[in-house]
This record gives sequence, C-alpha cells and structure tokens, in this order.
Amino acid sequence: MTETPVLELSGISKRFGDIVANENISISLARGEILALLGENGAGKTTLMSILFGHYRADSGGVLIDGWNCLRANPGRRSGPASAWCTSIFRWRQI
Ligand SMILES: Nc1ncnc2c1ncn2[C@@H]1O[C@H](COP(=O)(O)OP(=O)(O)O)[C@@H](O)[C@H]1O
Ligand SMILES: [Mg+2]
Repeated sequence: MTETPVLELSGISKRFGDIVANENISISLARGEILALLGENGAGKTTLMSILFGHYRADSGGVLIDGWNCLRANPGRRSGPASAWCTSIFRWRQI
C-alpha cells in the first residue's frame, strides 16, 4: 500500500491582478523525501512557498498535511501534527 504523502500541494493557482504567479501547481512529498523547487526568476517559487506557509491565500487548490486538506477541513475536528500545523499556519481560515 502506498503511504499517504506528508505534504501535498494540489492544483494551487494564484494571481496578482493580471499576473498568473502559480497555475494549477501540484506537488507531492513522501515521508523522508527531499524535494527541490527550481525555476527562473518570476517562475512562482516564492509565491508557492508563501501559500504553503500561510502568508498568501491561494485562489484555488489545496494544501494537504498527512492527507488532510488544511484549506477545507475544520481544524478543531482533528488532533495531532496536521491539525496543529493547520491551526497555527492558516490562522486566516478561522477569521
Ligand atoms: N505581491 C505581489 N504582487 C504582485 N505580483 C507579484 C507579487 N509577488 C509575486 N508577484 C509576481 O508573480 C510572479 C511570480 O513571482 P515569484 O513567486 O516571486 O517568483 P520566484 O520566486 O520564482 O522568482 C512574478 O511575475 C512576480 O512579479
Ligand atoms: Mg523568489
């Protein structure tokens, strides 16, 4: 059986006005895996990482920690590391 990825970015899109910074980006990270994000200046790396850490809000897509979609689920309904991450990082969800 395939293990659930510890982190997944699923179909992330983000625009700044007319500028498309991220268009339908999906990344999956397995436990113990090291992943490099490469791209030329303006490719959207910083924007994507800023979404992962809750600084920017994605226009669409999901951030999944241990298979749990931080941007959709209610953080109060689950305990453990995934819930702690989502609750602390994605504070804007609860506003
Ligand atoms: N806060 C912002 N407001 C407007 N445009 C932005 C902003 N942040 C990034 N961009 C634009 O989004 C695109 C991706 O930028 P960025 O994520 O910084 O790329 P990278 O980190 O790969 O160089 C670029 O065209 C950049 O000019
Ligand atoms: Mg950058």
